[in-house]
Amino acid sequence: MSDMQLSVSDLPHIPVLIEPIINLISPVSGSWLDGTFGAGGYTRALLEAGADNVIAIDRDPHVFDLAKKWISNYANKIQLHNDKFSNLGKYGSSFDGIVLDLGLSSMQIDEPNRGFSFIKDGPLDMRMSGSGPSAADLINTLPEIEIANILYFFGEERSSRRIANAIITRRAERPFVSTLDLSNVIENCLPRKKPGASHPATRSFQALRIAINNEFTELYEALFAAEKALRSGGILAIVTFHSLEDRIVKRFLQFRSGFAGNSNRYSPELKSEEKHFEMLNRKAIVAPDPELLENPRSRSAKLRIAKRLSSQPGPNLLPSQLGVPLLEGKYNA
Ligand SMILES: C[S@@+](CC[C@H](N)C(=O)[O-])C[C@H]1O[C@@H](n2cnc3c(N)ncnc32)[C@H](O)[C@@H]1O
Repeated sequence: MSDMQLSVSDLPHIPVLIEPIINLISPVSGSWLDGTFGAGGYTRALLEAGADNVIAIDRDPHVFDLAKKWISNYANKIQLHNDKFSNLGKYGSSFDGIVLDLGLSSMQIDEPNRGFSFIKDGPLDMRMSGSGPSAADLINTLPEIEIANILYFFGEERSSRRIANAIITRRAERPFVSTLDLSNVIENCLPRKKPGASHPATRSFQALRIAINNEFTELYEALFAAEKALRSGGILAIVTFHSLEDRIVKRFLQFRSGFAGNSNRYSPELKSEEKHFEMLNRKAIVAPDPELLENPRSRSAKLRIAKRLSSQPGPNLLPSQLGVPLLEGKYNA
């Protein structure tokens, strides 16, 4: 069986929401940038749908070994770069489309040695790129208030102070080294989990991962870089996995398509600036039922997709205008 005929269950990472993306942008052609290559599911789908070539970026050096198995099937149509997507402007200035499928791949989540899992034990790492301070470095050194702020602002964890206090108390005895070590301390300081509720460490692990990988700043910078790197008529498609990152993408596209959005659901939408993008979907697109059944990880995914209109990029927007939660510290390299 050739690699192109692999069934979904054989894939190391099942691409999320790729069918609606391809349907909305068809016919696909020209030069694309995939800022989150992962297992290459988006890159392959774009090429199969008619893209001439794809420049693919990932900050995780491990993804490139996996790609060696199949990349020759696409001759010279894929160029891989180990980089952050905030640097995407280095790779071109008139792309026909840019896709970002944010967050972690299944390979990263499922491999305990990467330190993202609160279910399987591994080193407390969480670095997508493998360099810079690890989650253990942060947890073992930051002041209590900074840990609490990370958990609250990056994970919307309501028990942030209680968890930060439990962490500080425990680390005074011995430092944290493993993921289960941390998730047990979190679990033990919170009320017993209700049946069906998510694991008590879910929000804290999300928050730490965001801090370690500087994910909000990456996204904020990538939005402006993508706007500059798209030709007029080019497509920007972004898939997010939690409400904080969806809010940033939504507000950016609202501003750029002539609406500032509403600060709460009862106030009217405000006209903001000239149109630089046209949203192809006003409401985020979520995974259809068959995709949810096949891939439970698609349940929190949201797709926003827009077409670049004017040749001039819009004015700068402050992080606060896009709802980017920013903390004092910069926690990664
Ligand atoms: C959800 S996976 C993408 C999966 C991919 N679309 C596929 O179908 O196989 C996200 C990938 O983006 C990478 N990534 C996350 N943030 C990044 C950033 N700021 N710059 C570059 N790559 C990033 C991660 O390392 C991971 O491999």
